[in-house]
Amino acid sequence: MIPASLAAPAPGWVRDTDVVVIGSGIAGLVTALRTHAQGLRVLLVTKALLDEGSTRWAQGGIAAALAPDDTPEEHLRDTLVAGVGLCDEEAVRALVTEGPGAVRSLMELGALFDRAEDGTVALTREGGHHRRRIAHAGGDATGAEISRALLAALTKSEGIEVIEHALVLDLVLDGGRAAGVTLHVMGEGRRDGVGAVRARAVVLATGGLGQVFAATTNPQVSTGDGVALALRAGATVTDLEFVQFHPTVFWLGEGARGQQPLISEAVRGEGAYLIDASGERFMVGRHELAELAPRDVVAKGIMARLRETGASHVFLDGRHLGARMWEERFPTILANCRSHGVDPVTEPIPVVPAAHYASGGVRTDLYGRTSVPGLYACGEVACTGVHGANRLASNSLLEGLVFAARISQDLARYWPGPALALSRPEALDLSGPEALDLSGPGALDLDGRERGGVLEPSVRADVQRIMSEYSGVLRNAEGLARAERELAALAGRSAGEPCVEAWEATNLHTVATAIVLGARRREETRGSHWREDFPDRDDTSWLGHLVTRLDDGPTTTYEGAS
Ligand code: SIN
Repeated sequence: MIPASLAAPAPGWVRDTDVVVIGSGIAGLVTALRTHAQGLRVLLVTKALLDEGSTRWAQGGIAAALAPDDTPEEHLRDTLVAGVGLCDEEAVRALVTEGPGAVRSLMELGALFDRAEDGTVALTREGGHHRRRIAHAGGDATGAEISRALLAALTKSEGIEVIEHALVLDLVLDGGRAAGVTLHVMGEGRRDGVGAVRARAVVLATGGLGQVFAATTNPQVSTGDGVALALRAGATVTDLEFVQFHPTVFWLGEGARGQQPLISEAVRGEGAYLIDASGERFMVGRHELAELAPRDVVAKGIMARLRETGASHVFLDGRHLGARMWEERFPTILANCRSHGVDPVTEPIPVVPAAHYASGGVRTDLYGRTSVPGLYACGEVACTGVHGANRLASNSLLEGLVFAARISQDLARYWPGPALALSRPEALDLSGPEALDLSGPGALDLDGRERGGVLEPSVRADVQRIMSEYSGVLRNAEGLARAERELAALAGRSAGEPCVEAWEATNLHTVATAIVLGARRREETRGSHWREDFPDRDDTSWLGHLVTRLDDGPTTTYEGAS
């Protein structure tokens, strides 16, 4: 059984704010900064340290029609093609038209993007883009620079309260509206343990779910907490079966687990190509863009070649790029490869696909609003409709940026400042539970939802094994049925004491169960969902979305194309 809320101890402290933002990647930071600038009180909660999410790992860059010979219309076209019929065109239009301005505002905030010799923003290409459209920073350290600039702005902004090392547990509902969250804080002194934040709106910006798989480019913290919380809160989640596998991840050897080193698609954008062990460029002839085809096409091309040859990996050959290009454009990747004993200047890099990005997530409208009033979602945790069945490379940072701005506009429209008076001024006293009556009507009410036990921390490794074996880049009915059975069997492994690792394992289990449900149901191959037993795209039956909700258990409904 998947519970509707976690069996957390009663909150020991309570904090009041207007808007609580959960997550400190680009989506969370921009939402927090912009919402605070509108005069609302903002509390930013992050699971580890402020800069530990996925954003800082982003290498390639941020896509926007910044070049004089490019247009939002062309960016729209490439995004729709990559999304294989499932993008929401209106959402994509918002993304591509507001994108260039959003990137410029990031520069005004202090993010230093790489420049061409003529002083304009240097732009590269990545898979699926027909133009040079990807702005980058520090060569291949775009996410780190964006994160640095946003955190500097956060420090300067004064007044945004931050709680680090805080895992979000459940949404607090008040009469069906989001009214705050419960948190487990680790090591923050007087806020240690389970607490609660009461707020007029909650913004989920918790990032991805890559840790559902054994090998992923995502950091340890990407455990799908936002999607799991949203499901427990009764929100609608969609397109979860579309987990994107990045084609070129450094091959660390058979059975490598955990976060794997990414080799940015921008390396192919600058001219590197894929070869097999015999030196053949196997992507040529498979797609007009060869190695720069959309990501799903390249990942499938690699998997097909691995099957044909029985090899465990292929190679990315960038020797011809020369030492200067490697040193100046790809310093991070160069150092990473060398630290693993491979010098890309003189040797091809061994690569395989690995889990990278959730194209689906908590369904939102064009202003980040979910199906639960007062609950917003932004960034990878959200499904705004811009990615469809396969995200176009470097559209993710852009999505976080554009939709964070939209959410803050919406918050200011419906909850204008100056901030509301504290409903319970005594909540500012964090000296202990005795300072507060937490049992007041609606205060921390879970709206009668059923509380369930959390799972043993060791469930995490089992979920990862099951998902990688049966629900990874290649899927079929038999494997998915097995995944469903094995995941169901894990549901009995309750943890004695709830702890952060147990809550994370529970979230991973919930999200994995929902992914498998969708993957089993969608009997076709589209975008990043590859069914070996249904190898073709089927627009007659499947040009719509699978919507997942947690009722008595997880259920998936098909919503046909309108
Ligand atoms: C990359 O640099 O290849 C990753 C870019 C992305 O995932 O959008």
